[in-house]
Amino acid sequence: MIKTRLTDLLGIDYPIIAGGLQWLANADYVSAAARAGIMGFITAASFPDLDDLRAEIRKCRELSKGKPFGVNVSMFPKLVEGEKTQQIFDLIVEEGVKFVETSGRNPEPYLPALKAAGIKVIHKVPGVKFAKKAEAIGVDAVTIIGAECGGHPGLDMVGTIIQANVAARALTIPLIVGGGIGTGEQLLAALALGADGVIIGTRFLVCEEIWAHDLYKQRLVQANETDTTLSLQSLRNTARSLRNETTAVVEKIEKETPGDLGKLMPHISGKVGKVAYETGDWSKGLLAVGQSVAFAEKVEPLSDIVQGLMSEASAATARLNSLTGGLADMKDVG
Ligand SMILES: Cc1cc2nc3c(=O)[nH]c(=O)nc-3n(C[C@H](O)[C@H](O)[C@H](O)COP(=O)(O)O)c2cc1C
Repeated sequence: MIKTRLTDLLGIDYPIIAGGLQWLANADYVSAAARAGIMGFITAASFPDLDDLRAEIRKCRELSKGKPFGVNVSMFPKLVEGEKTQQIFDLIVEEGVKFVETSGRNPEPYLPALKAAGIKVIHKVPGVKFAKKAEAIGVDAVTIIGAECGGHPGLDMVGTIIQANVAARALTIPLIVGGGIGTGEQLLAALALGADGVIIGTRFLVCEEIWAHDLYKQRLVQANETDTTLSLQSLRNTARSLRNETTAVVEKIEKETPGDLGKLMPHISGKVGKVAYETGDWSKGLLAVGQSVAFAEKVEPLSDIVQGLMSEASAATARLNSLTGGLADMKDVG
């Protein structure tokens, strides 16, 4: 067991968060995370009908057997007509959810109501300047994501090993770091860099509790750290996904007519990605996958992945302890 400010804040056994996964983070997955001693977040945007979201939260509570879980609210960069962010937060409060992961936009307008309901808010950002802003507006913890991550790494593309340490030096609230984390050695490294825990998305995509088709998971099992690519820079909405036919087409469109949303949309719409999860045809759709796919070696229960991470972290701790004499020698030389 590793005890940090994050495990204390969330009441979890291990300092690991399973971040929101569009279309995939449902009650089965999130409750598996809860039972495994970490925290998962139901992705609200995966349930456009609010009654479905309510039912999913209730199902998750049932399956989580008293262990804590949360809801991810990914917000559009700007308020768009018809968006349901306020209604989603109202529903979260009504349902007595105690943990929220926000991303995509400053959550400040929603914080007073969430705080009044005793909800802990973790805001996820792709850079230190946003993390400092999040701390200033009063979130309970901040997650910072580096360039290696699946999904949206932001525009500056700073790697996780830099983001983590710069953020740890700049912030005082609990810090979660991620982007490329898929082993226990990396978990330990993140703690050494000053983080209170890690966030994982990609590494968990091959767990049994993810409902996506087995052919998709098998592709991830085979993939390595060079099988992802970056797209949508011309929309200023960089995305890292699995290299496939869609990323090739998107690259061509972005070269010929940069920023042409009309041309891009038929390829990048989230609905195309959902079909890939349903059919297993991973050749189409912008399928968020990060470089830590290299560590996804088989399909297995989520709790086995978590246990694997913890035993790797423990072996890495022993290795570091065995080196301590050496480090002390170096200090003497210095
Ligand atoms: C398939 C997939 C879907 C994701 N969907 C969301 C989402 O809807 N909202 C969100 O805040 N983050 C989303 N993320 C980001 C993850 O929550 C997490 O921050 C990220 O995966 C961590 O980096 P890693 O992929 O290197 O582990 C997604 C990531 C993946 C891989």
